Amino acid sequence: MKYPFHIERTETSRLGTVNFKDLAFGKLYGDHMFVAECKKGRWTDCKITPYGNLYFSPASSALHYGQIIFEGMKAYKDPDGNPQLFRPEQNHKRFNASAARMGMSEIPQELWLDALHELISLDQEWIPEEEGCSLYVRPFMFATDRFIGIRPTEFFKFIIITSPAGFYYAKPVKVIASDHYVRAFQGGVGFAKAAGNYGATMLPLKEAQQQGFDQVLWTDGLEHKYAQEIGTMNVFFMIDGVAVTPELDGTILDGITRDSVIQLLHSYGTPVEVRRISLDEIADAHKKGLFTEAFGTGTAASIAPISHVGYKGAVMQLPPASAWEYSTRLKHDLEAIKTSRLPDPFGWVAKVKSKLVPEEAPIM
Ligand code: COI
Repeated sequence: MKYPFHIERTETSRLGTVNFKDLAFGKLYGDHMFVAECKKGRWTDCKITPYGNLYFSPASSALHYGQIIFEGMKAYKDPDGNPQLFRPEQNHKRFNASAARMGMSEIPQELWLDALHELISLDQEWIPEEEGCSLYVRPFMFATDRFIGIRPTEFFKFIIITSPAGFYYAKPVKVIASDHYVRAFQGGVGFAKAAGNYGATMLPLKEAQQQGFDQVLWTDGLEHKYAQEIGTMNVFFMIDGVAVTPELDGTILDGITRDSVIQLLHSYGTPVEVRRISLDEIADAHKKGLFTEAFGTGTAASIAPISHVGYKGAVMQLPPASAWEYSTRLKHDLEAIKTSRLPDPFGWVAKVKSKLVPEEAPIM
C-alpha cells in the first residue's frame, strides 16, 4: 500500500445494539472510522480507529471559514453476503473537484479506495440487508490550520464514517420553488459538495416546512425562473413522455445517481433532455395534463417521487403512486443493480476487497 494504514479495532462492538428492522437515516454510526492528515500536500497518519470524537484546535480554519467538503456513498451486500460499493471512483472524482474549488488538497485515488475498502471490509456486518437499506458512507475533509486570519490553508483532516441507514424519505416529497433565497450562482460553489451549500439552506428549509413542504426546489439566482436542484437531490420532470433534468451549469451538483438515471433511461429508450427548464414550462405542462411525474435523485434519497410542487402561491399536485411509471422502475432497477440482484451492464458495482483485514475475521 502506498499509504500505510494502522488499524485499531474496537474492543466493544455496538453492532448488537442495532435494530436493523427499524433503521432511520443518519442516526447510528459504525464501529470504526478512517482518519488521515494532510500536511502541506503530503498525506500521512492514515488509520482506522474505533468511531469516536475527534481532537482538533478551536482555531482550526474550517470552524471559522467553512472549508469543509463531503461525499455520500452507499455500501450494499450481494446475494451471497459480499460487500460492494456503487461507482466509488465517481465520488472520488467529485470529491477532488470540490476540493479544488475550495482550495483544499486533493485525495490520491489509491488512498480514497484503500480507505473505503478497508473500512467497509472491517465493518461489513454493519451493512443492512433489508430492502431499501444500506450502509451510508460519509467521507469528509476540513481545514485544520490553526490560524484565524484568512489565507490559503495547508493542513487537512480526511475522515470516513459509516451509518446503517433506511429510507431518507419515507413518503413522496412536497417541494416549493424558491422565489426569494438563492442557493448558487454561476462562478460560485454550487457544483461542489461544500458544507456551506447545505448550511445556508437550513433557514429556507425551515420556512418551507412551516408552509407544509418537505424541501426547497432551488431556482436560478437571477430570475427565480429555472429549476436547479432540490436541497438533497437532483431533479427530473417527466413531461409528455420526456425526462427533463437541469443541465450542469456550475450551479448544481453533478449527481452520480442523476448520471446513472440518465443512463438507465437511455437504456429504456426513454427520451432524456438535459437542459434549462423553467417553472413556467412545468406549470404550463401541468395545466395541459402533460406533467405526469417528478422525482429527485441522490445517494441518500435514492429515487424520491415528488407529490407536490409549490410555485408562485399555487401548488401543482402530481398523480398518485399507482401512476408512477418511471420512478418505480428506476428505483427498482437501481437498487437491484446495486445489490447484484440484476446484472450490471454499466460496470457500476465495485466489490469491496481488503488488502489488510483477514477475510475470515470481520467484526461481529
Ligand atoms: C447524499 O445524497 O449522499 C447527500 O450527501 C445528500 C445529503 C444532503 C443527505
